Amino acid sequence: MSTPTRSPTVTVGRPPRWDARRRAEPETNDATPEPASAPPAPTVDKVNLAQKLALFSEPWSPKIVGELNGQHVKLVKLQGPFVWHHHEAEDELFLVLHGHLRMELRDRTVDVKPGELIIIPRGVEHRPVAEEEVHVLLFEPASTLNTGNVREERTAEHLQRL
Ligand code: NI
Repeated sequence: MSTPTRSPTVTVGRPPRWDARRRAEPETNDATPEPASAPPAPTVDKVNLAQKLALFSEPWSPKIVGELNGQHVKLVKLQGPFVWHHHEAEDELFLVLHGHLRMELRDRTVDVKPGELIIIPRGVEHRPVAEEEVHVLLFEPASTLNTGNVREERTAEHLQRL
């Protein structure tokens, strides 16, 4: 004795999913709003590492030269011993471009030469040491602080973009 709802009638009245008339519909609808809402095309350009490295000389002061997927690509010059530290939440990649980096870990030391990279997993204590000037490309989440869990005079909070 209940009054039938309208919805079954509407459903039955629609063409089935495989019907060509249904397929044609979304195509026209999809195409219309896209040009208006599409973001402007990003600027794509290469980064010359030697040119960027020539722009600064101070050691332990990372510069941002690229950004992708929430990660920063940074260049840094190292001179002397850094501070022992670790990063709670970030893995760090060091790619040596110039000089020899001595990466001290608590149980051993790894020599990293130009063209080599080392990844320090989160939580692992490390101390980069550069007996002579070393140039490094860093790749790490944007949240990464250079001194990790330690605060000292070389802690770099606001990084310059080159
Ligand atoms: Ni670190």
